[in-house]
Amino acid sequence: MSPRFSLRARHRFATVSAIHMTELEQQLQSVRNEAEAAIAACVDLQSLTRLKAKYIGRQGAVTAALEKLGKLPKEDKPRIGKLANEVKNALTTAFTARQDELEAKAAVTGPTLDLTLPGRCHHIGHLHPLTQVFERTVAIFRRMGFAVEDGPEIETEWHCFDALNTPADHPARDIQDTLYVDLPPHEKYGRYVMRTHTSPVQVRTMLKQKPPIRVVVPGRVFRRDNPDATHSSTFHQIEGLYVDKNVTVADLKGTVEFFFKQLLSPDTKVRFRPHFFPYTEPSFEIDLSSPHLVSRGKEWLEVAGCGMVDPNVFKAVGYPDDEYTGWAFGFGIERIAMVMWSINDIRLFTENDVRFLEQF
Ligand code: DAH
Repeated sequence: MSPRFSLRARHRFATVSAIHMTELEQQLQSVRNEAEAAIAACVDLQSLTRLKAKYIGRQGAVTAALEKLGKLPKEDKPRIGKLANEVKNALTTAFTARQDELEAKAAVTGPTLDLTLPGRCHHIGHLHPLTQVFERTVAIFRRMGFAVEDGPEIETEWHCFDALNTPADHPARDIQDTLYVDLPPHEKYGRYVMRTHTSPVQVRTMLKQKPPIRVVVPGRVFRRDNPDATHSSTFHQIEGLYVDKNVTVADLKGTVEFFFKQLLSPDTKVRFRPHFFPYTEPSFEIDLSSPHLVSRGKEWLEVAGCGMVDPNVFKAVGYPDDEYTGWAFGFGIERIAMVMWSINDIRLFTENDVRFLEQF
């Protein structure tokens, strides 16, 4: 390089450097002014964080300026480098101070209230569908003069079977069907079982009171069943018992028919089909037919058992021979609920899935 060229070249570079230097210095100065104004105007911590990133973050304006330092001529580097660091430090201090101020203010005023947020929806609970069927059933029978009775879920074999004319070799008493409770047997009434039906409460009621008796017994029962769409090891029944002088099958049919028409709809048809239960003679199964059922492709659906109280049951509770007659029934609550709402799986009642429960 000739000295002439060198001189000119240096002059040229010096001029360019001078312009760069001024630009960068000016740029730093204006970034500082702008940032300080923005910090002072900032009123919440979230925007402050954004500002911090914009100015002194890794991709911020000051960092960008610092990166340009490398390209400056040697003699300018220290001066501008110093300025850049001053700006960075000043802004860091300003951010920290403002952050402290805003945090202190937030601590006093608490979180700001956002009036534009949509309100929270409070879900209103309601009774379980089975409870609704119980309550409606009990209400209808109360209107007909029935009282509500209750009995233990852990029963004795005598109340659950013997007193109900169900002999020791009856298949219902089999270990396959009944859950026996691991307790020392009752000295008079035998082993303890989880009651397989609400019928033992008939026995308990008759033991403690004389006819006329008109009771319904809502309750939970237990069987040794494998759960599937129509079986559950625990389900619910409502038992009915009417004992007086001259009670007839006509009373039974009239009462049951009235009940189902009230519960479901006046166009519900009720059919009595001869059947066998040890504690009633004659015995029937009750089938229902209503518009809901037809739409599910089946005309008649069995929902209950009933019959005229067997004289052996009266004998077991110590009633005099031939003085009284009576009828009894046992309705399956899940069965009725399934008919009412076209539900096809009994397990839904105990799974507690809100998507199912909120439909009722
Ligand atoms: N206990 C019977 C059952 O669990 C239902 C039943 C049938 C009850 C006839 C009665 C009755 O009172 O008379 O399947």
